[in-house]
Amino acid sequence: MLLQNIKETRLYLKEQKRLGKSIGLVPTMGYLHEGHLSLIKKAKDENNIVVVTIFVNPIQFGPNDDFEKYPRDLKRDYNLALNAGADLIFNPSVEEMYPEKSKSFVVVQELTDNLCGLSRPGHFQGVTTVVSKLFNIIPADRAYFGLKDAQQVAVITQMVKDLNFDIEIVPCPIIREEDGLALSSRNVYLNSNERQSALLLSQSLCKAEELIKMGENNAEKIVDSIIASLERDSNCNIEYVKIVDFNTLKDLKILKNKFLIALAVKIGKTRLIDNIVMEVD
Ligand code: PAF
Repeated sequence: MLLQNIKETRLYLKEQKRLGKSIGLVPTMGYLHEGHLSLIKKAKDENNIVVVTIFVNPIQFGPNDDFEKYPRDLKRDYNLALNAGADLIFNPSVEEMYPEKSKSFVVVQELTDNLCGLSRPGHFQGVTTVVSKLFNIIPADRAYFGLKDAQQVAVITQMVKDLNFDIEIVPCPIIREEDGLALSSRNVYLNSNERQSALLLSQSLCKAEELIKMGENNAEKIVDSIIASLERDSNCNIEYVKIVDFNTLKDLKILKNKFLIALAVKIGKTRLIDNIVMEVD
């Protein structure tokens, strides 16, 4: 079923809750790939009803970002989502979600000060605001998010805790192509030459993992090795390469406990992110 109206969506889902059904929510911006489909399948395994939202949220894009040209194909997404187990696709228009200029926003502090929060001012405020709106429209028991956006997962988990949303956040592993490229809706922008360059993201993270397994624990040295791998390719324009504590997302000097190695790189005009999570004693 496809619904584009908030009132109808609320009515339908209220009735489902009254019937005792559990609801799993998979928020997306559409142009679904296997990563999204893995979230939908997991949601289906763990809930009676799965709602997939498809909404390209204008307020999480900066003025020079790709909001206008972000790939959209509702018919394709609708079929893919249904085949993966979705029961309802909620696809509101921008006017339905933002009928007037909002005066209220949701802000998560500190966790948004580093990584993508540094290079994309206002992005996470846009994400947490729209996700809060979706949580208020859809009475979900669980919401599923991919760890490719590890900072997004951390920020939303904190928001849910701080604001007492009655919903469980379920982080799900990154899904990669066979050659290592992390799946992203933005991969469609890459030409074949750029796609080859994009492999350097996961390859440089794998090399860093090897260095760490061999005993290197100096964050700067590991970051430098990743930067050196990426800089060898003229298509790569590094936005950041960082090693941060997994819980606080603050930069680490010496690796300890659980940490995230995260990077954002422009390949031609396409901004890609990738990361790995590791733990040392
Ligand atoms: O990860 C995304 O696709 C978006 O940031 C989200 C969570 C759907 C909010 O617009």
